[in-house]
Amino acid sequence: MADNKGLHNAKRAKKDEFYTQLSDIENELRHYRHHFRGKTVLCNCDDPRVSNFFHYFAMNFEVLGLKRLITTCYKNQDPDLFSMNTYDQAIWLEYLGDTNGNRVPDPEEIGIRYFKGDGDFRSQECIELLKQADIVVTNPPFSLFKEYLGQLVEYGKKFLIIGHQNAITYKEVFPLLRANEVWLGYGFKGNAGFFISKYEDVATASSHREGMIRVSGVTWFTNLDMPKRHEDLILYRTYSPEAYPEYDNYKAIEVSKTADIPIDYDGVMGVPITFLDKYNPEQFELIWTTDRGGDGMLEDLKKPHVRYDAPVVHGEGVYKRILIRRRK
Ligand SMILES: C[S@@+](CC[C@H](N)C(=O)[O-])C[C@H]1O[C@@H](n2cnc3c(N)ncnc32)[C@H](O)[C@@H]1O
Repeated sequence: MADNKGLHNAKRAKKDEFYTQLSDIENELRHYRHHFRGKTVLCNCDDPRVSNFFHYFAMNFEVLGLKRLITTCYKNQDPDLFSMNTYDQAIWLEYLGDTNGNRVPDPEEIGIRYFKGDGDFRSQECIELLKQADIVVTNPPFSLFKEYLGQLVEYGKKFLIIGHQNAITYKEVFPLLRANEVWLGYGFKGNAGFFISKYEDVATASSHREGMIRVSGVTWFTNLDMPKRHEDLILYRTYSPEAYPEYDNYKAIEVSKTADIPIDYDGVMGVPITFLDKYNPEQFELIWTTDRGGDGMLEDLKKPHVRYDAPVVHGEGVYKRILIRRRK
C-alpha cells in the first residue's frame, strides 16, 4: 500500500516535469500581444535553461514592448526526478531588454540572482517577485494547480497558465469561471498538447513524436481578455423532448455535445465541460457543475433520486456536466 502510494506520487511528480513546446506558447500568445506592452512578466515555474516560456519572452522582449522579464527556477528536492539544475541554490533571472543593439538576450544582459530557499512559488522570496509582476505566464505543476491559481487570484495578478481541463470543476476553480474572473484560452490543437518529456516519448502509436509525451485535456486558463470570449456560439438545432431528455435527478435537459445546444430552449441545460472553450458570458450563464452533487448550489434543480454526483438519463449516469442557461 505504501509502495503504491509512493509510485503514484512519483508518477504525479513526473507529470509536473513536462516542458511546454515553443510552438504551443507562440500559438496561444499571439492572441494577447497587446496586453504585454510596458509590462513586467513573471515565469515562476521555469528553469531558464529549459523553459520555452523564458525563451519566448526573452526573444520577443522588444517586439512585445516588455518592461521586465523575471524567471524563477525551482530547485527540485527529489533526486529521483529529472532536473537540469546543477546549481546548489535555486536561482532567478532578470532581463531588461537588449542593451548592445543585437536584439538578442546575451548572457551578460541577463542578471542571475540566488534565492535563499528552494524557489517554491509559495515562498516569501517568490511572492515578493510576484508582487512586482503584471502578468504571470507559465505551465505550473499540475499537482499544485489549485494552490497556484489561488495565489495568482489572491495577489490580483493577470495570468495565462496551462492546466488540465479537469480543474474546471474543482470547487476552488469553478466559482472563478462562473464569476468571469477566469476563462479558458484558445487551447491546444485537438484538445491535447505535446510536451517535452525526459521520461516517455510515446502516447499512442498514432500520435507518436520522438522525445514527447502527449497529454490530453490540457488547456490555457487566463484572465486576459481576448475576442473569443465575446463571440456568440452559432447554434442550429431546435429543442424536442425526445432529442433532449430531462435528467432523472436534475430539472435540466441533457445536451451531450456543445454544438447541439438547442437554439430555442430557455431552461437549464447540462453540457460537457468542454463547453467552456466556446463560452461567451453575454450569451450564456453558468449555473454550477454537477460534480460533488453541486456543492449545495443546485438544490432547487434536484429531483427526488438516490444519486446526484452525476446527471442520470433513463437510469444511466452520464459524465459530469456544467449546468447553463441562455441569457438572451
Ligand atoms: C509542468 S513543468 C513546466 C515547466 C515549464 N514551466 C514549462 O512549461 O516548460 C512544471 C515545473 O514546475 C516546477 N515546480 C514544481 N513544484 C514547484 C514549486 N513548488 N514551485 C515552483 N516550481 C515548481 C517543476 O520543477 C517543473 O519544472
